[in-house]
Amino acid sequence: MPTAVVTGSSRGIGRGIALRFAEDGYDVAVNYHTSEAAAESVAAEIRDRGQEAVVVGADVSDPEAAARLIETAADAFDGVDHVVNNAGIDQHVYTENLDPADFDRVMDVNVNSAFNVTKAALPHLRDSADDPSVTNVSSILAHTGAPIECHYAASKGALVSLTRSHAADFAPEVRVNAIAPGHVETDMTGDRTPEEEREQLEAIPVDRFGRPEDIAEAAAYLRDAGFVTGETLNVNGGELMN
Ligand SMILES: NC(=O)c1ccc[n+]([C@@H]2O[C@H](COP(=O)([O-])OP(=O)(O)OC[C@H]3O[C@@H](n4cnc5c(N)ncnc54)[C@H](OP(=O)(O)O)[C@@H]3O)[C@@H](O)[C@H]2O)c1
Repeated sequence: MPTAVVTGSSRGIGRGIALRFAEDGYDVAVNYHTSEAAAESVAAEIRDRGQEAVVVGADVSDPEAAARLIETAADAFDGVDHVVNNAGIDQHVYTENLDPADFDRVMDVNVNSAFNVTKAALPHLRDSADDPSVTNVSSILAHTGAPIECHYAASKGALVSLTRSHAADFAPEVRVNAIAPGHVETDMTGDRTPEEEREQLEAIPVDRFGRPEDIAEAAAYLRDAGFVTGETLNVNGGELMN
């Protein structure tokens, strides 16, 4: 059975990707940082779909924890075929008030974690016969920037160039791509005011916010798209046209 590791899959977009991969016949390693019960519940949903799941608590910004995540998945499933680097955090602060430690933490969780997990997975991916791939979850803010979250936008821009670098580095054995979602309804976007929500919606030509399933669709495409590597797929309801 082909296998996937999805970081930050206890909630939101990562959960959506984990469930989609299970529907497509993949065994999935579910990773969380603090939400153990939610991760166990995602694993139960994966098993309901007839696939195996293993739950691994690991702060993937820590290289040793990231390596433990990959080794646990590889042991449980006899290999790792696909990795989705989805774990991420956001913070809304203007630069004048931004603590350098918070800047570093956002970079650690959003960028270093993708490097840590990919590096640990590489030997397993190179051994895979399932057209192995890595997919990094970036953001529309990689392209647009964002005044109130410069560290988040910078981290997502870094993921785009990490993606291209790794795609060139690991070819032809392992494909590496990114997804740049627009506004998707999850806990991460749940704290906006009604006015912010209205303004954001007005900027989306398809007239709705994204759902985790929309991003999961893109992740499934990139997993299967054997002639695509080094790309960033924009999934934003047309918002990037503005
Ligand atoms: N929602 C959007 O509109 C949007 C748009 C563009 C890009 N994105 C990106 O999409 C990804 C998922 O976002 P989301 O909206 O689904 O966020 P979310 O609902 O806040 O979920 C974040 C997930 O990441 C996990 N996580 C956070 N820090 C971690 C760490 N150090 N180690 C391991 N796991 C960690 C969380 O685990 P716990 O549950 O254990 O905390 C949770 O599973 C992020 O990279 C985000 O930047 C989101």
